[in-house]
Amino acid sequence: MNKRRPLVPLDFIPADLRQPDVATATENALLRSDVAAAVEGMFAAAADDGVALTLVSGYRSFAVQESTYASWVAQYGDAAGADTVSARPGYSEHQTGLAFDIGQADGACTLVLCFRDTPAARWTATHAADYGFVLRYPLGYHEITGFSAESWHFRYVGKDVSLAMRAAGTRTLEEHFGLPAAPSY
Ligand code: DAL
Ligand code: ZN
Repeated sequence: MNKRRPLVPLDFIPADLRQPDVATATENALLRSDVAAAVEGMFAAAADDGVALTLVSGYRSFAVQESTYASWVAQYGDAAGADTVSARPGYSEHQTGLAFDIGQADGACTLVLCFRDTPAARWTATHAADYGFVLRYPLGYHEITGFSAESWHFRYVGKDVSLAMRAAGTRTLEEHFGLPAAPSY
């Protein structure tokens, strides 16, 4: 999904949500059950390599995304600014239960640009594909994905897709699936 491919219906609620057994920055970070299992595997492997990840955000309902987006509109002063960083309700991968944001266990650079230089971002950029995840908003691809770079946001796609994309060097789902770019709504 992207700015041209909303959820149907817009207020879709996924089944099988559960809390993964990993460190979280918030009490509530639900994910689809199969995604939660993959997250548990990835976080354990990162810990084995000395990288302490934390889960910052998981499933967000239509109503939660409504208020998240509204707070960005308030911060930027208009929708144009908010649309570069936050999806409108019904258009966020977080509403699928398949996407999540990670952080450093020490809280450094949470959800801000400097996160890309942290061990957590470097480790996941290399290894996330082994667990079926893709970094959904890579730097320099906003004209295709519609969003500025988020080195913390991962989307579960399954290993067939994540490993194929890594092998081919394909950075976006739009390119992998031959879909049109989605720079705007
Ligand atoms: N920050 C991402 C684009 C979202 O709001 O889903
Ligand atoms: Zn996110």
